[in-house]
Amino acid sequence: HKVTLVDPVASQVAVAAELPGVEAKLGDARALPCEDASFDAVLLMGPLYHLTEREHRVRALREARRVARPGAVVAAVTINRTAGWSDWLLWNAEGTVHSISAAESLRVLREGDLRFFDHDIFTTAYLHHPGDVAEEFAAAGMAGPAQYAVQGFPGYMPELRAIIDDEEAREHLLEGLRVIESEPSLLGASNHLLTVARVPS
Ligand SMILES: C[S@@+](CC[C@H](N)C(=O)[O-])C[C@H]1O[C@@H](n2cnc3c(N)ncnc32)[C@H](O)[C@@H]1O
Repeated sequence: HKVTLVDPVASQVAVAAELPGVEAKLGDARALPCEDASFDAVLLMGPLYHLTEREHRVRALREARRVARPGAVVAAVTINRTAGWSDWLLWNAEGTVHSISAAESLRVLREGDLRFFDHDIFTTAYLHHPGDVAEEFAAAGMAGPAQYAVQGFPGYMPELRAIIDDEEAREHLLEGLRVIESEPSLLGASNHLLTVARVPS
């Protein structure tokens, strides 16, 4: 594929520019330095969870729609509301250092805005409910997107490595995940969510 990458961090743009087939540009998802209707697929792999204002996220989605050709795919990754709290529980179980207090992880679970985080690990972010992502897509003119839980509860199973290494057990795991990846009642149980729409022709 011929890829254009846009990122607001100059050092990351410089690394991406070294990759074969990649044109890397310094820029912002809210104002893409790209022509209208010029891409077959547009991926937002960061902006939707780092933009903490809904208006800015919808603007980024409108920009994705603008640069996508009619019929192209727009796919966005978001972080689910439960992620900070479930990470806290996992770190607690593992006995690793917490970069977020128990009280703060509960506040984020209720309110969604992740702040005062250890910047060596992560930074300011907004944690969505799946339905809110679909609503933001609709506000940008892409109603009814498909949604996929890309990191469901099996991700927390400590013995998962053994299952992945065993061909038969791995197929069993993957087939089950294909069945449940878009199950509405489970979408929010995944730390990350993929939302995908086709730009109307
Ligand atoms: C956690 S990283 C993910 C990096 C990479 N896309 C990936 O999937 O592995 C989030 C990325 O979103 C970028 N980002 C944050 N705000 C952005 C914005 N307003 N427009 C475009 N990119 C943004 C960050 O600079 C960072 O590279």
